[in-house]
Amino acid sequence: MDPVKPHPRVEEAASSLVTGGAEATGARRDTLSITDNRTGKQYELPIEHGAIRANDLRQIRYGPDDFGLMSYDPAYTNTAACASRITYIDGDKGILEYRGYPIEELAERSTYLETAYLILHGELPTRAQLEEWIWHITHHTFIHESIKKFLDGFHYDAHPMGMLVSTVAALSTFYPDAKDIFNAQSRRKQTYRLIGKMPTLAAFAYRHSLGLPYAYPDNDLSYTGNFLSMLFKTTEAKFTPNPTLERALDLLFILHADHEQNCSTSAMRGVGSSHVDPYCATAAATAALYGPLHGGANEAVVRMLTEIGSVSKVPAFIKGIEKGESKLMGFGHRVYKNYDPRAKIIKQAAYQVFDVLGRNPLLDVALEIERIALSDEYFIKRKLYPNVDFYSGLIYQALSFPSAMFPVLFAIPRTAGWLAHWQEMLDDQEQKIARPRQLFLGPARRGYVPIEQRG
Ligand code: CMC
Repeated sequence: MDPVKPHPRVEEAASSLVTGGAEATGARRDTLSITDNRTGKQYELPIEHGAIRANDLRQIRYGPDDFGLMSYDPAYTNTAACASRITYIDGDKGILEYRGYPIEELAERSTYLETAYLILHGELPTRAQLEEWIWHITHHTFIHESIKKFLDGFHYDAHPMGMLVSTVAALSTFYPDAKDIFNAQSRRKQTYRLIGKMPTLAAFAYRHSLGLPYAYPDNDLSYTGNFLSMLFKTTEAKFTPNPTLERALDLLFILHADHEQNCSTSAMRGVGSSHVDPYCATAAATAALYGPLHGGANEAVVRMLTEIGSVSKVPAFIKGIEKGESKLMGFGHRVYKNYDPRAKIIKQAAYQVFDVLGRNPLLDVALEIERIALSDEYFIKRKLYPNVDFYSGLIYQALSFPSAMFPVLFAIPRTAGWLAHWQEMLDDQEQKIARPRQLFLGPARRGYVPIEQRG
């Protein structure tokens, strides 16, 4: 394994698992002893960073023709597919850190572009590095005029995520140099382009759905200020974003910038592992984010809150969840078994946005759901807490975004995280094309049956 320096808490967790034998005698060995009861043979596997190597299991065979033991882990709930140095999550304690910096500090003191630099480069930039980084991103915001023609081809009610997935993939055809994925200079260029152009593609998709002319990027504005301008500019010569809303969006972008090996990042790594260019890999990651269990959840939250409609209907709705009639969208997480730290920050930000734009009436429904759920046996037992999507949709709605745009607002900032993981994967000597195994449970070999003999 690449000599990854483990997070101190990972090491602590690994050592606290040892409770009996070896520790009691004071002779801790970082190994796992296995007895194969089929053969009586014993094996000792090394444990590194709290994990055994799945391939070490392959030596465990019951006969010469046996393929060797595999681990079965549908949805990878307990399999580390890579070593990473980017984002650390402690789901039980509700901790999230980018490159060691707590999300709360970044949310309070950083900006999205500075955080994106941190995620991609591993360290916070100096002032000069930050200025150069912002300059490059800002000067890659324009898209080829032909992309507009693709957008024009979409039906007026096409979902913006569908348009985003397709146009990001299409960028690949404009930048054939992006295939040079092991060239550092080319990688840097594609990174500027992708982070710079995602807001433009997203804003153009939005304008298309309204039948409005596209508003070109304004390089005098900040990353989120320019995005708001491309979305909402009408006849004014220059759009001036409201600073509170510009900052609120920037904050949301910081919170969504990375989240280690989630579904879309795994898609980015998996598809990128075939050495396709980063535009195609980002299109795959964006497609993964589109699903309602991932980036589409905040859209589903607002739909759910609208359907519930009023605080008085919340108890009956929660009863329905307990009976398994539906899921409480914006609640629960594969990793967090505590309050998602991003949800706490977003909840505070929601109040700031509502001070400017007026209170979203659905907030009261959301607060009542949270109040009941956090004291309800069903949710307590399953450790279901609000996740990042529970309150973000309410802010986006207050900012006048239609709900179809919510996953797009997730995809833009997550591009930095996807690219950081893509880069880390390409530089990792241990990585190969992603190719999981299967347990084949289908029919044994059999002869072809002619159609007239089939029952
Ligand atoms: N509402 C009601 N019950 C739930 C929910 C929920 N939102 N989430 C999980 N459960 C139940 C689930 O039915 C299961 O119950 P039981 O043990 O009786 O079968 C138990 O809790 C464990 O759930 P799971 O399905 O094994 O958990 P998972 O890790 O596979 O799923 C999840 C994680 C996020 C897909 C799921 O919690 C969910 O569907 N939540 C709603 C969608 C949502 O908010 N997604 C956004 C996730 S955060 C943003 C992101 O990372 O994309």
